Amino acid sequence: MKIVVLDGYTENPGDLSWEGFEALGDMTVYDRTAADEILARAKGAQVLLTNKTPLNAETLAALAPELQYIGVLATGYNVVDIAAARSHGVPVCNIPTYGTAAVAQFVMALLLELCHHVGDHSRSVKAGDWSRCPDFCYWNTPLIELAGKTFGVVGYGRIGRAAAKLAAAFGMEVLACDAHVSAGSDGVARMVSLEELLAASDVISLHCPLFESNREMINREAIARMKDGVLLINTSRGPLIDEQALADALHTGKVAGAGLDVLTVEPARPDNPLMKEPNCLITPHIAWAPKESRQRLMDIAVDNLKAWLAGSPQNVVNP
Ligand SMILES: NC(=O)c1ccc[n+]([C@@H]2O[C@H](COP(=O)([O-])OP(=O)(O)OC[C@H]3O[C@@H](n4cnc5c(N)ncnc54)[C@H](O)[C@@H]3O)[C@@H](O)[C@H]2O)c1
Repeated sequence: MKIVVLDGYTENPGDLSWEGFEALGDMTVYDRTAADEILARAKGAQVLLTNKTPLNAETLAALAPELQYIGVLATGYNVVDIAAARSHGVPVCNIPTYGTAAVAQFVMALLLELCHHVGDHSRSVKAGDWSRCPDFCYWNTPLIELAGKTFGVVGYGRIGRAAAKLAAAFGMEVLACDAHVSAGSDGVARMVSLEELLAASDVISLHCPLFESNREMINREAIARMKDGVLLINTSRGPLIDEQALADALHTGKVAGAGLDVLTVEPARPDNPLMKEPNCLITPHIAWAPKESRQRLMDIAVDNLKAWLAGSPQNVVNP
């Protein structure tokens, strides 16, 4: 069985092993594959693994009938035309969950950095500012205590719930809104409407998936409803935010700080308006990427292929 990984580098830059797959067939791993290289590399493979390399209807037609299985090395599978795969009888299997704890932890990393600017203060100390300081301490930015403040979770699913528990552990009051749960409390969060959440939260953290219906849900109007000096965290998907509106709000101080792991266009465009805003932390889509969660992703991807080989496929997104 010929197994081809089209873009293995972000999942395994060298600190993990592909041996689970290697035991199942003759495997070739490419770090990354450009659009015009896909066909030549994938031709003849029975098993194709992709993370972000697109497999559209035309490509899938060209790879049939040899291609029998597609594994997506991620949760989101929008890079594969799953209907076209189905029409060729090819199951597409994803990794529904592997990084919930890591992403929730990263939310707090962004939030704590906005509250304390640990990195900036350490750089300032090493640049000599403390040595020159007449006092025993100094700070370059306002410092923020979270206890007693309100943490608003938009999208109360796996990651939103995990982030809510961490916020509660910091003594924050937690509000949440979700497209499918509208009232009640689970002892961690009180469910409210999006409007109430926007108006009452000191920190707003986005955790809903991206759909056409919620693209730019955080637009000028939504920001206007927020508290002055709100902090905004986005580890979900960049297009949930109107980036120019957020840049303008950061500029005026309406939004005091933003922590973003995702942008509308990735990798970041140099002219993204948020790149110039000093109180906007931007990280390169790494919330999912601690070794532990990538190992979990690898293990589930291997299990998916084994389950398919055993005749009972799991995590099929195009049944
Ligand atoms: N930055 C990263 O590295 C990284 C890693 C993994 C996941 N993610 C993102 O995190 C998102 C959440 O992951 P999850 O595992 O918690 O998903 P999940 O499916 O468990 O939870 C999503 C929740 O959002 C709710 N929802 C859907 N539309 C909504 C809307 N318009 N308003 C409010 N709530 C809405 C759903 O009902 C669900 O409860 C993913 O969709 C993905 O975009 C990012």
